[in-house]
Amino acid sequence: MLDIKITRTSAPKAKPTGKLGFGRIFTDHMFMMNYTEGIGWHDARIEPYHKLEFAPSCMVFHYGQEMFEGLKAYKGENGKCYLFRPDMNAKRTNATNDRLCIPHIPEEDFVQAVKAVVSIDKDWIPTEPGTSLYVRPFIIATDEYLGVAPSKEYLFIIILSPSGAYYASGLEPVGIWIEDEYVRAVKGGMGFAKTGGNYAASLIAQVKAHDSGYAQVLWLDGVHRKYIEEVGSMNIFFKIDGKIVTPMLNGSILPGITRNSVITLCKDWGYEVEERLVSVDELLEAQKNGKLEEVFGTGTAAVISPVGKLRFMDDVMVIGDGSIGEVSQRLYDAVTGIQTGKVEDKFGWRFEVE
Ligand code: COI
Repeated sequence: MLDIKITRTSAPKAKPTGKLGFGRIFTDHMFMMNYTEGIGWHDARIEPYHKLEFAPSCMVFHYGQEMFEGLKAYKGENGKCYLFRPDMNAKRTNATNDRLCIPHIPEEDFVQAVKAVVSIDKDWIPTEPGTSLYVRPFIIATDEYLGVAPSKEYLFIIILSPSGAYYASGLEPVGIWIEDEYVRAVKGGMGFAKTGGNYAASLIAQVKAHDSGYAQVLWLDGVHRKYIEEVGSMNIFFKIDGKIVTPMLNGSILPGITRNSVITLCKDWGYEVEERLVSVDELLEAQKNGKLEEVFGTGTAAVISPVGKLRFMDDVMVIGDGSIGEVSQRLYDAVTGIQTGKVEDKFGWRFEVE
């Protein structure tokens, strides 16, 4: 159990009014904790949100040893405040940390830290439909050293951002660009880990996709260049001939918490769910035969995000009639309903914050 020292701000900021975008506004407080080799994690504290000062030699600036997570806090109609599956973020943090040679954070300490900082800033949780308080935990290597080696010092920080939909289009189906030139990750690399480098690697294709009028990039596997992996900010699902199909976790895609929740819900509702290799040729074929019924992305930030168009080289697959599909809508309602306390939480996914 962490002993968290709390210093409250003496100058609370004005809360945002009007439409919230994603990830640009930050609350009054932040959590911080240091790691020093030989001592372990120490000095857990909550402080007013502030800028940080670092030596330019800090390792994170040079070799990218860092990780991050994303989860959300919601306010229910009953006024209670909830987190969605923070225990899964704690587990995934340590899986990422293992890959990046960053020391583990005990899962219960991670959850305690998230709860503590969210509790202090719970008045910042927005309540408009589709909004939430986005929670961004991250760890950076702070050793002042230019050798390539695991850092001996780290900083774990949690910041909070009242946010609306990740895509400006909200629940309008988005267009997705299947990338045929660049790759994001390969098995044995860092694809399954939540680390900034994976996202830096994705930018060039994202710019290309945006320039062509598409919202996001869908990655193909780096070896055969034919199997579907993930979209940079979400996992991807297809409804093909009545079945729910999603790429299996193979080491190069992110084990999404919303992905896991969607699989659990779909199975519970009686759908056949297949986690397996999905080739782009299979999608083109299914589309031709009228069997590609729905496509949607899943992610913490994106929640359930319908896809209305998939482009691969010279082929453009138009999915559905331009509005959200039936399963996508049902999943959106169920996931957000559980998150906000409107729907029974039969899987124990909701964590209350006092
Ligand atoms: C999230 O969904 O929380 C993520 O971390 C994706 C992020 C790149 C916006």
